[in-house]
Order: sequence, then structure tokens, then C-alpha cells
Amino acid sequence: MYVAQPIEWTDRGVVVLDQRRLPAEEVHYTYTGYREVAAAIREMVIRGAPAIGVAAAMGAALGVLHSSAKTVEALRSEVAEICEVLAKTRPTAVDLFWALERMKRRFSELTSQTSDLAKIRQGMVAEAQQIHLEKKATDEAIGRFGAEFMPREGQVMTQCNAGALATAGIGSALGVIRVAIEQGRKLHVLVPETRPYLQGARLTAWELHKAGIPLTLITDNMVGHFLKTGKVGAIVTGADRIAANGDTANKIGTYQIAVLAKENNVPFYIAAPISTLDLSIPDGERIPIEERSVAEVTHLQGVRIAPDVHAAHPAFDVTAARYIAAIFTERGVARAPFSESLRALAASSQSVATTS
Ligand code: MRU
Repeated sequence: MYVAQPIEWTDRGVVVLDQRRLPAEEVHYTYTGYREVAAAIREMVIRGAPAIGVAAAMGAALGVLHSSAKTVEALRSEVAEICEVLAKTRPTAVDLFWALERMKRRFSELTSQTSDLAKIRQGMVAEAQQIHLEKKATDEAIGRFGAEFMPREGQVMTQCNAGALATAGIGSALGVIRVAIEQGRKLHVLVPETRPYLQGARLTAWELHKAGIPLTLITDNMVGHFLKTGKVGAIVTGADRIAANGDTANKIGTYQIAVLAKENNVPFYIAAPISTLDLSIPDGERIPIEERSVAEVTHLQGVRIAPDVHAAHPAFDVTAARYIAAIFTERGVARAPFSESLRALAASSQSVATTS
């Protein structure tokens, strides 16, 4: 099955697929500076929580690799600046901060072992590559746990794009669907277009179509109708940040899908890596919600579709844990009470094997 490659570390630099131009064209850029990577995250060249984490790690590695620092101390202050620039790109997806913390931790380990700058640079590049490799293995494990919960046949629904484009692996929510299909389940995916940025119409439809997975594209205001009449067996979405009690931030529109799912007795699942957990916040109230440009609401592909009026664009919403039937992670499945099950999974040391 086709798997998109949104980001890759190469000898020439970090090669990123421009997701803004999909599905019309597949354009790649090669970045050699961390500020370029930061701009790419901010401007949604690359997006999706885990993929943003991989990009931030690679951006930090690029920054260290091309730094002109001559001493460990000079490099240390540059690393702090590099990570700050990358951290300021998007506020909601916690994977970004998780990846930067990990890169900072690795820098501290390396500098406690050696003062050879070449070795430190090499070690930072290796860490970013390792994070990417782990994402792939993580997605596959999430897929295996989640596939068990998919129906043997029939329709499932997702939201936004939680596929390979969003994770740099096989996808979290779409990874679950992919593994279920590989196991022989006969699934058909209902894909809400996901206004205003159209990640469903542009990216999920593109990914599923290229992988040969049957789908039907619907507009966001058809969700209720299909949940009531469409014999949907399950809904699975990704997540940008999961609070300690299981409240989950995901792409705007996810909350209303979850509420409609409950009303229509359709199980609503989240698929996300442990790196998306933020156990430092007790509930969803504390999750910062990114406000994006209203031009993404008033315009479609640069064409104005509304008069010049006030508009709003919260890019994410929070679904309360009570609407979530289970959360699939690479370490297992969390169920209510999530404050216990998520903490137990986060503490479990089981790690996933990585393959190149
Ligand atoms: O604004 P985006 O496109 O970065 O938002 C992405 C989402 O909301 C995804 O559903 C989420 O990151 C999960 S991706 C595995």
C-alpha cells in the first residue's frame, strides 16, 4: 500500500513535501537551516502533530549541524535559541515540545560525554533520525491495537488528516484503518472535508485514494446525517494534545463529531502516540488553542468566498473524555477512567521496536 513521505533527512538537507499544494501537485523543498524548518511548520508546509515533532527535531539537528559555534558553551546557547524559534511555531500539538525537549536532553547527554563538536553534531543528527524511525514503529503498534476495534466490514469515519502525512509513519487514525484492512477487514472510509483548511478533502482523500482504500468524501455538515443513517461502525481520529483526564484536542470539528457519535451510538476512538499525552495539565480547559488566520475562512485557495466581515478560526477544539470510547496508543489501549489508564500507559516502559 502506498505510504506518503512528508519529511526525510538526506545528505542535502531536510526534504519536505509541501502539503499546501496537495492534491494538485507534489512539490518538495530541501531545507538546510532551522529557520526555514520553523517557517515550514508555521505555514503548514508540514502539519499534523507527530510530523511537526519530527520536523522540529530535524530542524534542531540542522541548526546544530550548521552552527558556526567553536565551543560547547557557544553551541549550548545556540541550541537554546534554535529550540525557542522552533517552539514558537504552533502552540497546540504537544509533540512539537516533546521532540524539542528530547533534542535538548540529548544535547545535555552528549555534552556531558564529550566536548568534540563534530561528535555532538553527529549525535544530534542521529537523534532526529531516531525520532523519525520511532514514529514509524509507533504508528504500526497503534495500528495493531486499534485495528481490533474496527468493524469486520462496513463504514468508518475519520476527521482531518491523521495519516502518513501527519505522522511521518503510516498514520495514527489512518494507520488503524490501514492495519485493519491489511488484516482483511472490508472498510470504507467516510472522510469529512474538514473546513476551513480542507485536510480531509485535500490530504486524507489523496492518501486513501493513492493507497487504494475505498472512501467517500463528505462535507462537514453531512456528518450528523451519515452517523444517523449511514451505518457507521466506528469513528477514529488523531489528536494534537491529550490532557491527563483524557480530554482531547484535535482538529476543529472533532468535538461535534464525538457528540453526534454518542447520540447515534457510534463508538468514537482516538489514535495517538504517548508523545501526544500532556499529563502536566489536568483537563482540556488548559490546552492552548491555536487561532489561525481568518483568511483561511474567508478565502478558498486565495479566492474570496465571503464579504469582508468578522470571521474566526480556532484551529482545534477539545472533546471531553466522556465522549471517547478508547484511546489507542503504541503501548496499549486506554479506557475510562482515563486519568488512571493514561498514567499507567505513560509509566509503562514497554518500548516499540524500530525498523528502517
Ligand atoms: O492543523 P493541522 O493540520 O496540523 O491539524 C492536524 C490535526 O488536527 C490532526 O488530526 C492531528 O494532528 C492528529 S495527526 C496524527
